[in-house]
Amino acid sequence: MLLLILIPLLSLLFFFFFLNSNSNSKVPKSYPLVGSFFAFLANRKRPLPWLSGIMQVSPSATFVLRRNYSTRQVFSGNPAVVQHILKTNFSNYGKGHVINRTLTDFLGHGIFNIDGDSWKFQRQVSSHEFNTKSLRKFIETVVDTELSDRLIPILSSAAKQGTFLDFQDILQRFAFDNICKIAFGFDPAYLLPSLPQAKFALAFEDGVRISSERFSAVHPVVWKFKKLLNIGSEKRLKNAISEVRELALNIIKEKKQRLGEKESLDSVDLLSRFLSSGHSDENFVTDIVISFILAGRDTTSAALTWFFWLLWKNPEIESEILNEINEKSEAPVFDEVKDMVYTHASLCESMRLYPPVPTDSKEAVNDDVLPGGTVVKKGMRVTYFPYAMGRLEMLWGSDWAEFKPERWLQKEEESWKFVGRDPYTYPVFQAGPRICLGKEMAFLQMKRVVAGVLRRFKVVPAFEEGVNHEPEFVSYLTSKMKGGFPVKIVERDHLRHDGTES
Ligand code: HEM
Ligand SMILES: *[C@@H]1O[C@H](CO)[C@@H](O)[C@H](O)[C@H]1NC(C)=O
Ligand SMILES: *[C@@H]1O[C@H](CO)[C@@H](O)[C@H](O)[C@H]1NC(C)=O
Ligand SMILES: *[C@@H]1O[C@H](CO)[C@@H](O)[C@H](O)[C@H]1NC(C)=O
Repeated sequence: MLLLILIPLLSLLFFFFFLNSNSNSKVPKSYPLVGSFFAFLANRKRPLPWLSGIMQVSPSATFVLRRNYSTRQVFSGNPAVVQHILKTNFSNYGKGHVINRTLTDFLGHGIFNIDGDSWKFQRQVSSHEFNTKSLRKFIETVVDTELSDRLIPILSSAAKQGTFLDFQDILQRFAFDNICKIAFGFDPAYLLPSLPQAKFALAFEDGVRISSERFSAVHPVVWKFKKLLNIGSEKRLKNAISEVRELALNIIKEKKQRLGEKESLDSVDLLSRFLSSGHSDENFVTDIVISFILAGRDTTSAALTWFFWLLWKNPEIESEILNEINEKSEAPVFDEVKDMVYTHASLCESMRLYPPVPTDSKEAVNDDVLPGGTVVKKGMRVTYFPYAMGRLEMLWGSDWAEFKPERWLQKEEESWKFVGRDPYTYPVFQAGPRICLGKEMAFLQMKRVVAGVLRRFKVVPAFEEGVNHEPEFVSYLTSKMKGGFPVKIVERDHLRHDGTES
């Protein structure tokens, strides 16, 4: 009986919403019982442009949405709010229950999924291991080997044969090989000319995708029910997770054995460091390794995908970068920020418009009031929103839509000087006590790839829809170019100075 009344009522609301929802960029109306649930539903496939449109017109870039009757969520792009939740009142904003119930199957107690003392401990241990000089040296060696033995030969042969590549896929394979070698000294050999379907990589990919799709389920009950029955996507997730964990566990066991026999460290990957400094619980170490692979896998590749696309749209910036590469990049690159300033600024600028982590949510432990007066109740989610922040006039001026590395630079006599923005205005790597641990490593890796690729090749988009096609920015925990990034590779030797093919 209740259903007979509810169904027509809900359909009516639904229709009403569809008629109203697509063109507007204001906070959607909240209805009795359902809140703005239907607005979420209607924009489920493209939440990022929808929510940033609302943010652009919200006073002080902060608004509250009712996901449904009982659940409200704050979205903010206001640097004062970002500073409040990430630093000033850090202890009141944790990962919380939503993240916990959604990601624990995949991430266990890894650093991405925990709060409190357990987080503090992992952060301490890994930042210590992460900063050691020999690890940085190791990272450089890994990146250079992957570059010269795998990436460059593949690009070179694509250029010779005139074949098309999905550059996003290539960069993801590159980053995956890299992070696996760094995290646990294992080479999945994912970036090979045959573009193999490596088992570990595919299982990891499935694990991330299906876990992140749980967030956009109409209601968490949907995936929980599928999980209970072990059907559909939840069955695939379960298989993917057990494959990832089994493989990681084998590598860990083997490494433990070798370390036990030798007593000395001949490789400097993170896992060896953890094991040889006395952390021997296999499950714990597996969790750590999985979180690090997730962190390093898709972030740098997403950043670089959009970077190369922006360079093609802005040839004058590409040639400025090329000048810098030809001048500077033969030098040892330990302190590259100082040396490759223009490239550094261009990468920052590219991630302003296309941040690898476009939104990130915290959950309030207790009631609080945000700067500006927004009231937060215990258990509410507060989301800071780098993707929308890069598009706010109040932060970047009326030319925010333009790709302008000069925003980050000052001319000093004849050379450029890098001028960073505070991390609350630009929280692309997060900020405060949980700021990204891999930031420097990411820049190191990205600059080497940019220098290595651009020195020899031009990357030319080859969308079927034509050169003016605007690729779509989507997010599965980290961002992606929807449908991939089809390109043609052209050797620079074959280019005349004006950039056309000879
Ligand atoms: C352009 C590349 C990258 C970007 C934009 C980026 C961004 C971020 C962001 C936004 C977070 C906060 C996530 C959260 O707590 O919800 C984070 C955390 C983290 N990142 Fe990165 N990241 C990048 C590359 C890397 C790389 C290459 C590594 C190396 C393995 C790494 C390691 C980590 C770790 C371990 C954390 C967790 C820190 C903690 O919770 O205390 N990141 N990163
Ligand atoms: C509202 O949405 C949240 C988050 O998706 C969910 O946990 C909660 O159970 C929902 N509440 C109701 C009454 O449907
Ligand atoms: C996640 O939930 C489980 C079970 O409720 C709990 O034991 C664990 O401490 C939670 N972790 C975090 C980080 O909240
Ligand atoms: C931080 O949050 C707590 C609630 O846990 C609140 O009582 C306190 O006033 C907040 N502190 C600041 C500096 O806003």
